[in-house]
This record gives sequence, structure tokens and C-alpha cells, in this order.
Amino acid sequence: MKSEEFIKFSDPIKLFTIWLEEARKTEINDYNACCLATSDAAGIPSARMVLMKRFDERGFIFYTNLESKKARDFERNVRVALCFHWKSLKRQVRIEGPLLEVPTIEADEYFQSRSRESQIGAWASKQSQYLPEGYESLTKQIKYYEKKFHNKLVPRPSFWSGRIVVPEKIEFWKDEKNRLHERVLFIPQSEIWLKEFLYP
Ligand SMILES: Cc1cc2nc3c(=O)[nH]c(=O)nc-3n(C[C@H](O)[C@H](O)[C@H](O)COP(=O)(O)O)c2cc1C
Repeated sequence: MKSEEFIKFSDPIKLFTIWLEEARKTEINDYNACCLATSDAAGIPSARMVLMKRFDERGFIFYTNLESKKARDFERNVRVALCFHWKSLKRQVRIEGPLLEVPTIEADEYFQSRSRESQIGAWASKQSQYLPEGYESLTKQIKYYEKKFHNKLVPRPSFWSGRIVVPEKIEFWKDEKNRLHERVLFIPQSEIWLKEFLYP
């Protein structure tokens, strides 16, 4: 028997809003964490967690260092996948699609909403590169940028911004008895979302 909400909802964004809010109340921490999968020029996949900071009619937004491994991947292949898993609710949401850039003004605003320590951290971290002198290399960088921006507003580094995952597929999965889990897949078509139920 299909659950009421899977039958009822024709807009996956509305259903996602409800599930995310429930996860916010039940997850121990990082209810907005999801696994981001990319692949490199040779098609070799790699996956890591990111925090989904916002979602709206454009898609699902995360922020990162644009010189990181993941960014090198998505510069070559804009198609990515996100996977949320809320253990406390036994639910999963899978999203696939290409990336769009977050507009500069929006990225600036978001960067300014972060703590000063996080802002300095963004400047100091050459994300995914080797630390030549171990952790000491990072500490040195942090001290350098603390001094550089002392008593000043910390601007957003040009190598740090957000990307929007534009959903071409959104699948909701919920745990059910005897592994007869429920799955519903939404695919955008013109103005509406096509909805299909899937075998577990
Ligand atoms: C719960 C969680 C949330 C994270 N959120 C982010 C994030 O929003 N952006 C980010 O760049 N890295 C985030 N990270 C770190 C990444 O998982 C990863 O270590 C880092 O981005 C480097 O990945 P890369 O070398 O594949 O580019 C997070 C890690 C965890 C465990």
C-alpha cells in the first residue's frame, strides 16, 4: 500500500520541505548534510558530504572551494548527484542534475552571514591540496589572513562560492517492513512534475 503523502504530493519541492523540516527536528546534527557525487574527466566517481544551505525553485545550493577536487570535477562535468539520508526517519532523497553558479551577490551575502572564523578559514584552506608541513601549514595561513583582514570586513574569496544542483530527477525513499520500501520518482516536464512509483 502506497503511503498517503506519496499519493498526495505532486510537487517534490513541497514534499522535500516537509521532510527536511522533520529531519531538522529529529536528526542529532547536520540535518541538511547530503552526499555530493561528482565524476572526473575519465568518468571516475568520487563522493563527499556537503551542507545544503538553501533550496528554492532553482534547485539545491551548497558552497565550496572552487579549487577543490570536487570543483575540478564539476568544472569538467556539471552533472552531479546529491543523496540525503536521515537515519532517525529512515528516509532517503536522491537528486540528480547539472549545476548552475550561485549569483555573485547571493554568494557574497551568504559569505557575510558566516562567522568571521569560517570566513578566515575559507581564505586559509587550499581545500583538497596536500599540507606541505602538516597542520602547521594551515595554522600559518590562518594567522596570515587574520592579520591581513584585522579590523576589516573579510571579503568572499573569488575561489569560494556556491553551486545550485538543478533537479532533473528527485526520488523519495522511505523504509517499510520486510524491505518493501516505498519509492517515488519526480521528473520535471514543462510546467509540471511527472511522478512514477518504483519497485523497492
Ligand atoms: C557533514 C559534513 C558537511 C560538510 N559540508 C561541506 C560543505 O558544505 N562544503 C564543503 O566544501 N565541504 C564540506 N564538507 C567537507 C567535505 O566532505 C570534503 O571533505 C571537502 O569538501 C573536500 O572534498 P573534495 O576534496 O572532494 O573537494 C563537509 C563534511 C561533512 C562530514
